[in-house]
Amino acid sequence: MEGLQLIATGGALPGRVVTNEDLSQLVDTSDEWITTRTGIRQRHFCAEGETAATLAVSAARQALERSGLQPEQIGCCVCATLSGAYATPSTACLVQKELGLAQDIPVLDVNAACSGFIYGAAVARGLLATRPQDDRRYALVIGCEQLSRLMDMTDRNTCVLFGDGAGAVLFEAVEGAEFAVDLGARGDMAIETPPCGPIRMDGRAVFRFAVDALPRTLHAVLDATHHTLDEVDWVVCHQANSRIIDHCVKKLEADSAKFYKNMDRHGNTSAASIPVALNELAETGRLQPGMRLACIGFGGGLTWGGMLITVKGSAV
Ligand code: COA
Repeated sequence: MEGLQLIATGGALPGRVVTNEDLSQLVDTSDEWITTRTGIRQRHFCAEGETAATLAVSAARQALERSGLQPEQIGCCVCATLSGAYATPSTACLVQKELGLAQDIPVLDVNAACSGFIYGAAVARGLLATRPQDDRRYALVIGCEQLSRLMDMTDRNTCVLFGDGAGAVLFEAVEGAEFAVDLGARGDMAIETPPCGPIRMDGRAVFRFAVDALPRTLHAVLDATHHTLDEVDWVVCHQANSRIIDHCVKKLEADSAKFYKNMDRHGNTSAASIPVALNELAETGRLQPGMRLACIGFGGGLTWGGMLITVKGSAV
């Protein structure tokens, strides 16, 4: 059975930086409240002309350039997003057009909210597996969001949490590569956002769900690959809230240095948060060939997803 290996990453963050101080001019909040409750200090919002798709194209182009692959070598393209501009064309189709990917490959969007990148990688692996004779064994998986377009900027419960961005990862399907994925959902715990309305959330319920789902799905992928947490180089969790990660580190009695965090600079970028984090690790030389990574998503739906992968090349 083929497993996915990470071969290159890319990222894109929109130009407009919004600080906690900026938000305190809009709603009754403070830098102190946001920082202590979430660890978020600033986030990026799309400016005029920027969308989830424009960010996705930039991130994907960067990953492709860094991989040294040609567009026609890509075997499928999956975009994880809940904030694409159109019902159709999908964001992935817009990426296909801009990057000049082949026409005879599957190209689609996946919506599993903040777990979307993990779901997207699993879908991509499945798509490649349906075409075993095709020698294009590379999957382009992108997480991209323009959450600022779905936010109620008068609701202090949510408007301080989210940001925009995109991350892209090129995976290669390699026979025998160490790989595990664990996916699930609790539709019965859904926190409904009204049709076409802004994002709503019961923060405490999501917090309770996250601190249960995160360690559980991490253990599932470790057990599936017969590894311990000590044998993992990085745990890249969805960057919703610093306290969720701290809570899990404590529960797992784990080394906090392994749990990457960047929500202070980007806020919660939903499906983009894990690939943006992977790209930052790669760009700063902290993803080395052979490294073992556990990526863990959790969020709206409610959904969760864990994935254990290894790094193939030098990653950037
Ligand atoms: N600034 C100031 N006060 C705020 C605020 C803000 N931005 N947002 C909420 N408050 C207020 C609430 O109204 C409440 O006031 P009240 O007690 O007078 O009703 C008070 O702060 C405490 O609210 P509470 O919900 O208990 O805060 P909390 O400690 O649970 O933190 C979250 C709120 C949202 C930060 C926290 O629940 C959380 O991180 N949840 C997970 C959310 C998440 O990450 N979702 C995405 C997952 S993918």
